[in-house]
Amino acid sequence: MTVANDISLAVAALRRGELVAMPTETVYGLAADARNPAAVRRIFAAKGRPADHPLIVHLADVEDIHGWVKEVPHAARLLMDHFWPGPLTLILAKANHVDAVVTGGQDTVGIRVPAHPVAQALLRAFGGALAAPSANRFGRISPTQARHVRDEFPTGLAVILDGGPSTVGLESTIIDLSGAQPRLLRPGSISATQIEALIGPLGRPEDDDGPRASGRLAAHYAPGKPLDLIDAAALDGYRATYPRGVAWLTPGPLPQGCPGIALATDPGAYGQQLYAALRELDAGASQRIAVLRPPRDESWAAVNDRLGRAAAGSGSDTP
Ligand code: TXA
Ligand code: MG
Repeated sequence: MTVANDISLAVAALRRGELVAMPTETVYGLAADARNPAAVRRIFAAKGRPADHPLIVHLADVEDIHGWVKEVPHAARLLMDHFWPGPLTLILAKANHVDAVVTGGQDTVGIRVPAHPVAQALLRAFGGALAAPSANRFGRISPTQARHVRDEFPTGLAVILDGGPSTVGLESTIIDLSGAQPRLLRPGSISATQIEALIGPLGRPEDDDGPRASGRLAAHYAPGKPLDLIDAAALDGYRATYPRGVAWLTPGPLPQGCPGIALATDPGAYGQQLYAALRELDAGASQRIAVLRPPRDESWAAVNDRLGRAAAGSGSDTP
């Protein structure tokens, strides 16, 4: 395996049906040729991901979408023109040829045009589409740096392209446009309000009993030790219960006597730093991770969504 910025090496590997780690502005992806079912199957094997969890198809160019979907509804056109390339995934009715291995057997397909220059260079040099989930083992924290990918997959990947730290740091916003009403399936750095300003009201994930999306499982994005989400009002009680062995994660300065990592107070910067910080605390000596709950307003929606899942998936017993 090579960690390098050698696009031609990566393209050669993709043409052989091998897996390549690709930096994107959201998180690193584990990419395979989307038109090669055997290659796409290798993604599921490498991640340990159940076969019915669909993958996102990444395209170089907005107009490449026509080869992948049945039609481009008006709402999709508005969102594509406004947000692509960028951290937005659209779920649409799939074109007939799209293999069931990519869509997890569903009749819809997730599409995204990433903005990251290395992802763009790879997609253009490859000249096709890349199916790519986040480059982590199933249920684990998504990687935002090349070395995180190497830690997740010490072997098995042909090339890890190093594009530096992901600038968004949280997975893309997912909008399902395949039904009667557009729905938000996963909050991200592009907010529901920004989407609604263009296409009108969105249904929320809780209204939905639709297709499986692994990012929507309660137990996802989890570190290996208990992660407790703590309201400021509960801080003293928590510290009395766990006087030691706790590493803290806070927006802004750490409370007096609380070791850990102080993250940014701005939700965008906090989101960019979050997964690297969780990995660092997970690898450290503490027994638990305590996260001081950020504000609940919409600008923190994506962060709060991931923290809630991380807590649920970590075996935390703190409600
Ligand atoms: O930012 C991102 O979206 C990153 C980068 C690499 O692009 N990718 C990513 O992929 O987060 P993944 O597989 O970890 O999460 C994609 C989510 C999953 O929850 C999957 O179930 C959902 O998108 N998804 C994909 N296709 C879908 C479909 N046809 N219907 C419903 N959900 C879908
Ligand atoms: Mg993922």
